[in-house]
Amino acid sequence: MTEPTQGRKEAAERDRILEHSYDGIQEYDNPMPQWWVVTFWLTIVFSVFYYLNPFNTGVGSGMKAEYDADMVAFRAAHPANSGGGNARELLAVVARKSEVAEGKKIYAGKCAACHAADGGGMIGPNLTDNAWIHGGTIDSIYATVNNGVLAKGMPAWGKLLKDDEMQEVVAYVWTLRGSTPAKPKAAEGVVAAQ
Ligand code: HEC
Repeated sequence: MTEPTQGRKEAAERDRILEHSYDGIQEYDNPMPQWWVVTFWLTIVFSVFYYLNPFNTGVGSGMKAEYDADMVAFRAAHPANSGGGNARELLAVVARKSEVAEGKKIYAGKCAACHAADGGGMIGPNLTDNAWIHGGTIDSIYATVNNGVLAKGMPAWGKLLKDDEMQEVVAYVWTLRGSTPAKPKAAEGVVAAQ
């Protein structure tokens, strides 16, 4: 018997069925077709260019520029809360009925669940009496609402509301004082000096 030629040997090796059988399925162990291997390596080369975008190749503006543009858009949509409650500014907001009305809407949506719709208190304390756990001046109320009391379940609204929304809701809370809620929760904290 003559030795098989090199080519026939390779062909025989190529179409050799592997010994294992999974659920009755047997397989060859042949190399991937050339076109597939070439495409595979091209994608890897492409990915390097795509990642580094070295000379701003392609039509896009580049990752960094896109990221910066996204951040600018995000900051425009979510203006940072400046944090400070300024009593004079807040009292000026109280004086403007339309803003207090806005505050009432925010209160109904965000605060009533814990402080009751009329401010009488439920999970959170009564906001209509003159006793305050965290201080009853308008700027200390602002500070409490802004920073929250996370350990007690009062969210930090400064992170969730915009500057003007914060002022409006605090102005509304300020107007609740002295009102008569249906089911007032017992006073908590220290009675504020008027
Ligand atoms: C998930 C429940 C919850 C929500 C919602 C909530 N609060 Fe509170 N709030 C509390 C709790 C609980 C406390 C008491 C914290 C403590 O015991 O120190 C509190 C305390 C306060 C205080 C301080 C009261 C004091 O006696 O010093 C103010 C003012 C206040 N909340 C206003 C608001 C406003 C305004 C909103 C809506 C923007 C709001 N809260 C939404 C639970 C809540």
